[in-house]
Amino acid sequence: MERKQRKLDHLEFALKTGQQHQTGLEDISFIHQSLPGISLNNVNLTAEVGELELSSPIFINAMTGGGGPETEKLNGDLAIAARETGIAMAVGSQMAAIKDPGQQASFKVVRKENPDGVLIGNLGGEATVEQAKRASEMIGADALQIHINVIQELTMPEGDRDFAGTLSRIEKINKTIGIPVIVKEVGFGMSMETVQQLHSVGVSIIDVGGFGGTNFAKIENERRAKILGYFNEWGIPTAASIVEAVNVSPQLSVIGSGGIQSPLEITKSLALGARGVGLAGHFLKLYKELGLEQLIKEIHYIHEDLKVIMTALGCGNISELRKSKLVIKGNTYHWLSQRGID
Ligand code: FNR
Repeated sequence: MERKQRKLDHLEFALKTGQQHQTGLEDISFIHQSLPGISLNNVNLTAEVGELELSSPIFINAMTGGGGPETEKLNGDLAIAARETGIAMAVGSQMAAIKDPGQQASFKVVRKENPDGVLIGNLGGEATVEQAKRASEMIGADALQIHINVIQELTMPEGDRDFAGTLSRIEKINKTIGIPVIVKEVGFGMSMETVQQLHSVGVSIIDVGGFGGTNFAKIENERRAKILGYFNEWGIPTAASIVEAVNVSPQLSVIGSGGIQSPLEITKSLALGARGVGLAGHFLKLYKELGLEQLIKEIHYIHEDLKVIMTALGCGNISELRKSKLVIKGNTYHWLSQRGID
């Protein structure tokens, strides 16, 4: 199937299958503090993710691959939303535009609309160093995401079947590209073993892309006659995956993502140790159902709500929030105790 059509199918079926609400973040409780001792006006949302200095811990995660006018419109509008709210934005896979330079306009539009913002390029684990350089030059990227998506590929009839050499390709890109590299999953989560492998070759930013939100096994299964239903429930829920990744090394910057929609889920992800939080499916849904203006408003509301919640917790900044105390219940508690993480 043609890549462009596949990407359009992803947009349609991502909305149709929706968010799964199984992130495990419902197992996380904050401990109410009656004397927070701070003022809302002094709460600061700036975040540091690796070498990236961000005015907000949240960003628009990768969604817009493919090419053509639909991608260009979506990319342009998301770049405007990022510009108006001061948040970072990742584009979807740029491989189509690397293979067919005629498609580059649908990615270059993000830098045109948001000349001074933090923009993140995106390629898959099959990418070479040369392709990574071209992707980052295409949009003047401040960082590059490399997505690893074995289950999505296996569920796609036309997907990859050979996953040899991914780690060494990522290592080479990370060592030579000259901008921060973020290795991300796409909704199946990352284990501490995977994160350890990535850390051992020098990767310092991990986006866990946890299970519980957009579900690419379900999306791909919607698109085909032969159903690989056993992958529908496959993956590490976001809450457990954040803790697994954070636990590997304090030198790592972990991004929480996968099914995150509300300000409370964002604060819980940061309190579990994430330094940033990516939202894809939720922003896509808001944009498609309510339009660009409402998406911009919603991002402003999220920022206001993050400050309100941090005030209640007595946390004046993200570093303090990352140290706040939590109680972990249910499946997430069992998952973490069986994995030897307390
Ligand atoms: C994605 N995602 C994605 N990721 C990536 O690295 N490159 C890509 O091209 C795409 N394309 C894409 C298209 C659509 C329509 C969606 C909804 C998502 C995955 C995305 O960045 C994220 O990792 C997952 O969607 C999980 O997060 P949410 O959606 O549950 O917040």
